[in-house]
Amino acid sequence: MASLLTRTYPWIKLPLIVSAPMLNAATPALAASVSQAGGIGFLAGGTKPAELDKLLTKTSALIFSKSRLRNGILPIGVGFQNWGCDLHAMSPVFRKHCVAAIWLFAPKQLADFRPWAEEIRSVSQGRTQVWIQVGTVSEALEVMKLARPNVIVVQGTDAGGHGLRQSASIISLLPETKDALEAAGYPHVPVLAAGGIVESRGVAAALTLGADGVVMGTRFLASKEAGIPKGWQNELIRVKDGGTTTKRSTLCDRLKETVGWPEHYDGRAITNKGHLDEEAGLSDAENVRLYKAELKLGDEAFGNHGRMVTYAGTGVGLIKEAKSAAEIVDETSFGTRLIARKSPSYAQV
Ligand SMILES: Cc1cc2nc3c(=O)[nH]c(=O)nc-3n(C[C@H](O)[C@H](O)[C@H](O)COP(=O)(O)O)c2cc1C
Repeated sequence: MASLLTRTYPWIKLPLIVSAPMLNAATPALAASVSQAGGIGFLAGGTKPAELDKLLTKTSALIFSKSRLRNGILPIGVGFQNWGCDLHAMSPVFRKHCVAAIWLFAPKQLADFRPWAEEIRSVSQGRTQVWIQVGTVSEALEVMKLARPNVIVVQGTDAGGHGLRQSASIISLLPETKDALEAAGYPHVPVLAAGGIVESRGVAAALTLGADGVVMGTRFLASKEAGIPKGWQNELIRVKDGGTTTKRSTLCDRLKETVGWPEHYDGRAITNKGHLDEEAGLSDAENVRLYKAELKLGDEAFGNHGRMVTYAGTGVGLIKEAKSAAEIVDETSFGTRLIARKSPSYAQV
């Protein structure tokens, strides 16, 4: 499978490290740097075609200024949260910019993936690969039947940001999904692990579980290229013991007044005053009022006593400093190779 990935994405180095599509946080500089370091960087498509067009034009310029592309395919991906996104509005953008992969996630219903997959393949004449992020074994099997993705991303419950309210950590979810895909007649689809991986030991563990590569979100939030406030980044470095200091909840959506996430999704974030007040019985209306009042404080409104939304996965405690995206890719790959050398069973690195 590793050779399948290197044939399809000829610039990548193994182990494959992917930066997740994260709205606003995944900047053109982040996506371009990850791909140029031998990973695959993703932008988040958002809901506004004109904005995505601008992001892709910028990313293209960054990549073209350093290297020439083969086949006119931009060596990055774009991720869409399908529940809030209009396929027909977005389609002209991915017709104009042919990216290596389009990643689909969180539809209102799984069947919604099918028209997206068909349109992506049609407008790109098969040059753009379809990736789908799932959170359970049954979702993986179902999306294979519905949309035949080229890559499955298995997201465990440790993941930062949005995911299924109910899922397992990748330690069991990944191998069970691999086994189920094989038994159902899909032994060759590459499967990537996401959720709680922030450094080489996590990558080595994911490869041992059978993953063909990893996706990291939280680790790249603490990169120099990430488009997030300094206060958020400081929290990613300060916070330890992510199992107790982060929480899955829908509070962040309610505070930001984001409406429309399918019922079975919530999001993992660092707990702060908003969560504590909610647990103590504060009403949503009052929590939203206090949140809005603190917005003007900027970076000062992050932290235990702050109220700003601070998405992060349980791996946050392993992050010690912000680094460039290229350093993160290089160090993580190098560390994984060192572990592999100690144990020859990691044949792919
Ligand atoms: C701030 C943030 C924003 C995210 N936004 C998206 C998104 O727009 N689309 C998506 O498919 N996944 C999104 N995710 C989830 C990632 O795809 C991935 O599953 C997750 O980051 C992996 O877990 P980790 O953060 O522990 O590395 C987001 C994650 C974070 C932390």
